[in-house]
Amino acid sequence: MRRKIVAGNWKMNGSRSLVKQLVSTMNSDLTGLDNGVEVVIIPPALYVSDVIETAERSIQVGVQNVACWESGAYTGEISAAMAGDLGCSYTLIGHSERRQLFGETDEQVAAKIDQAFSAGLTAILCVGETLEQRESGAAEAVVAEQIRAGLAGVADEQWQRIVVAYEPVWAIGTGKTATAEDAQAMHASIRKELAALGAPANDVSLLYGGSVKADNAAALFSQPDIDGGLIGGASLKADEFLSICRAVPREY
Ligand code: PGA
Repeated sequence: MRRKIVAGNWKMNGSRSLVKQLVSTMNSDLTGLDNGVEVVIIPPALYVSDVIETAERSIQVGVQNVACWESGAYTGEISAAMAGDLGCSYTLIGHSERRQLFGETDEQVAAKIDQAFSAGLTAILCVGETLEQRESGAAEAVVAEQIRAGLAGVADEQWQRIVVAYEPVWAIGTGKTATAEDAQAMHASIRKELAALGAPANDVSLLYGGSVKADNAAALFSQPDIDGGLIGGASLKADEFLSICRAVPREY
């Protein structure tokens, strides 16, 4: 049975005072939420401990990236084991900003997923096509290749620690969202690709990301293969983020 998840990726935003204010509001307002959604906050790594100390049990915490290596002379890097040690249960892997701005390759993505498994974290693998790739009709092939490159080495018992987030690059931070129908079509194609890799595809949660807001979340989350969202800008405002969490339907 796949989980319904709404994860807030703060990117390089926030402060200790935002943690206090936002997480406290979430603590009190989430108590009445009965749609079974798992809420995850993914702040900058420096604020993970603050979020964990402030968050009540129903909120999970993650990091935005981990190193490809277990430990050693890699100045500035943070290992998956350290994130686990602090109490994180999730890590994003292969966000398009990491792929585009930091040149992260498919090989590094696969190595980071391995590290996440070793540390007992759930990896949220981010995939998505650029506008040019969509316009040339290559979107599904590009995403399928990212899925294969990232997940070909996943063993049977590790699939329960994989979540996939489909985030079309042209929709991230732009205010443009894929239509619910286009997003659903890509999610269905991702599920097929997962099945081809030997995954229990119906049990893997697939999130949509890219300009998700309170007013478009319900249409996206009501699609049969969309199990929640990965939220950037809108996760920095408690009311907006809570409305998105509430937009997950109680039953599929
Ligand atoms: P956005 O970002 O919601 O601000 O578009 C989503 C993401 O990059 O995870």
